[in-house]
Amino acid sequence: MEIQLWRKILSPYELAVRELIVKFNHIITEHKEKDLYSPMEQVNGRVKSISSILEKMQRKNIPIDRLETELEDIAGIRIICQFEEDIDVVADMIQNRSDMEIKSEKNYLTNVKASGYRSYHLIIYYTVQTIEGPKRLQMEIQIRTLAMNFWATIEHSLQYKYKGNMPAHVRERLSKAAAAILSLDREMSSVRHEIMDAQKFSQIQTNLVADILNNIENLYKFSNQREVMKIQEEFFRVYESKDLQRLQRFHRQLDIISEGYQAQAVTREFMA
Ligand code: GTP
Ligand code: MG
Repeated sequence: MEIQLWRKILSPYELAVRELIVKFNHIITEHKEKDLYSPMEQVNGRVKSISSILEKMQRKNIPIDRLETELEDIAGIRIICQFEEDIDVVADMIQNRSDMEIKSEKNYLTNVKASGYRSYHLIIYYTVQTIEGPKRLQMEIQIRTLAMNFWATIEHSLQYKYKGNMPAHVRERLSKAAAAILSLDREMSSVRHEIMDAQKFSQIQTNLVADILNNIENLYKFSNQREVMKIQEEFFRVYESKDLQRLQRFHRQLDIISEGYQAQAVTREFMA
């Protein structure tokens, strides 16, 4: 098989990976814009390297003409969550989408692998549009927590290093580490609501500040400079007080002021 042919096979998968990263990242953004906690923390993706494809074809005895039907993970997406509870939420989101169809799932959370590996996997069908028309692809989506990802990354490197001959003492260490990761996830889940509250407040503040500064900038167009300066100084005082409610009140007041100026501006335009 020639290089050129690989390009042709892999190109739609490249597109699919890029599209899904954009789509999942947008879900994160939508949550942030609405001051909501996002069940997704990070999204990564990759197209399998030709070398890994060849290795897997050999290992699983897959002929080239069945490559795309039998190799389900040519395109892979990894969604990293903060808490175990988020994993189901993310899986449900995918289930409810009209652009992704779930083919199968592997639940390594309820069926932990012998290695200690935990993760939730979905194989989906996803259609990309190419210049030759639509192409329906299979993709693997791995959903796991930050802690599970930490363990899997390290274990994967060690697997690679020992190439299937991992010494018993290393395997044992990894097994112990997997138990520690499990207990870490459970520990984090127990303070989940407090962590989520803290993050939510921080997001509300971020959005409020962005909104207020945007408002002040707009006011600058309609109002006189000295007045806007006074408003800005007041904003800094409110901000420094670290009082979210005060910041919310200031935001509402500023909204009323801006609306007043906008009404005036519209009237001026109308009269002119
Ligand atoms: P391969 O393991 O890739 O041959 O795929 P499979 O068809 O056997 O499916 P499986 O669900 O076992 O694995 C899919 C993917 O999950 C792998 O490619 C890895 O990315 C990940 N994975 C599965 N098992 C392990 C494991 O024990 N350790 C690590 N680090 N990752 C794993
Ligand atoms: Mg495997």
